[in-house]
Amino acid sequence: MKRYTTGLSNLDKLIGGGLPEHTVTLLSGNAGTGKTLFALNFLLAGAKKGEKGVFVSLNEGKGDLLRACDGIAQLKPIRKYLNKSILIQEIDLEEVIDLEYFTKIFEKYSNVDRVAIDNVNKLLLFSNGDKDYRINLSRVIKNLRANVGSSLLLCETLDHTLDTNRGETYEADGVINLSFLEVEEKPSRTLEITKMRYTPFDAYVQHELSISKKGLKLTKAKFI
Ligand SMILES: Nc1ncnc2c1ncn2[C@@H]1O[C@H](COP(=O)(O)OP(=O)(O)O)[C@@H](O)[C@H]1O
Ligand SMILES: [Mg+2]
Repeated sequence: MKRYTTGLSNLDKLIGGGLPEHTVTLLSGNAGTGKTLFALNFLLAGAKKGEKGVFVSLNEGKGDLLRACDGIAQLKPIRKYLNKSILIQEIDLEEVIDLEYFTKIFEKYSNVDRVAIDNVNKLLLFSNGDKDYRINLSRVIKNLRANVGSSLLLCETLDHTLDTNRGETYEADGVINLSFLEVEEKPSRTLEITKMRYTPFDAYVQHELSISKKGLKLTKAKFI
């Protein structure tokens, strides 16, 4: 099975080389845990291999995203690929948006290798209640699974939960959760894999994820 590099070599090693093709991975975590930067790094890793990727931003604007990349040496080269192999598609929520509009965005990019959506919580804004959201979510995931090589669905969580409790972890093919953990009274970023279809892996092991001006790095060290 073809696998797509996550952009973090130590993470790839934990999941048999990368994310399995035609799957949608939920990247969940509280605010500030590193989801957006992880997703940008994921697209950059693909672009370096000649793959095409789209970052669908329902959160920050393109300028804000690029400003964050400029502060991190590993992500700075994103500018070089912009509008060639990496497209940042900013979606204005002020516009009247409905599911049809939302899914059309993906149909437009059906020939891309990678898609990252930041974030799925915004889908709630144009769904009528939880049932409608679940149906919409399922459709978006099906669309991505069928048309895109590897997709990341970012999900904002609260209080160390894996999703918003509306079925995201069930619908997605894989779940990677980012969080903060107190280690010797110092909060550290952690990453754990809790689901990965077609892939053997060690579940619920917390790995340290560091974010610095150099870049993102997953250390092999595991917290006990
Ligand atoms: N240049 C940098 N050096 C060190 N840490 C950084 C740098 N840029 C961003 N960060 C860290 O990354 C965090 C933001 O990560 P982000 O991916 O936006 O989180 P999320 O999308 O999960 O809310 C910031 O709060 C900051 O701690
Ligand atoms: Mg973010």
